Amino acid sequence: MIFLKLGGSLITDKTGVEAVREDVLARVAAEIAAARRENPGLRLVVGHGGGSFGHVAAAQYGTRQGVETAEQWLGFAEVHAAMVRLNRLVTEAMLLAGIPALSLQPSASALCKNGRIVAIAAQPVLAALDAGLVPVIYGDVAFDAEIGGTIISTEEVMMALADALNPSWLLLAGEVPGVLDEAGCVIPMITADNFVDIQSALGGSRGTDVTGGMTSKVKSMLALVAQQPALSIRILSGLEAGLIGAALGMPESAGGTRISQ
Ligand code: IPE
Repeated sequence: MIFLKLGGSLITDKTGVEAVREDVLARVAAEIAAARRENPGLRLVVGHGGGSFGHVAAAQYGTRQGVETAEQWLGFAEVHAAMVRLNRLVTEAMLLAGIPALSLQPSASALCKNGRIVAIAAQPVLAALDAGLVPVIYGDVAFDAEIGGTIISTEEVMMALADALNPSWLLLAGEVPGVLDEAGCVIPMITADNFVDIQSALGGSRGTDVTGGMTSKVKSMLALVAQQPALSIRILSGLEAGLIGAALGMPESAGGTRISQ
């Protein structure tokens, strides 16, 4: 079982407004299709971020911090609608490449408490996998028992599903070749032990990102591997042709940064 996240920075131009990278989307879909042909038993869940679709409205309304006023609830609906527009483009590209992609809406099943997912429906994801489909989830809005509403990132959705689905790999494909140090070199391995040393080298991210950039992503990934010792995480470039395909075929030896316990 592999979880593959297509970062918002990979499939959209994060500095624009609702600007999709169609060429990247088509190539990545072709790589996923080829990997499935080579390994028909592959159980794969694809997720995608927001990039220039969800983050702009989310930042404008402060949706991640909570939702209370009518205007903020309008923002909540707008953030979701923007994510659905992107999700439509992603699933269409996958279907066009021959992948039986089935979109599953996180906000229809996730419930949060103070910004954390406390419940999510894993059963439809499992049923889709058993049917040979490729479930597609995404960063979305979610109802929250404490703060009304919030935003849940793709990784947070995947983490919430990990208990039920037991993925052996989580592949995070972005626009950079991995987690970079001050000199711009890929850090091959991050663990809880060396994270303190490399933290200063990790900045925020380009463009608008309400869910926090690289440092917070690496932190939450370390928390995830602590919780799921059988899981390995790899951060890799989806911009370099062939890398996602190679990682789906042989995740152990693919490039990028591995995050382990
Ligand atoms: C963000 O999802 C979703 C919204 C802003 C609604 P992610 O946090 O997973 O997206 P990226 O990959 O950083 O763009």
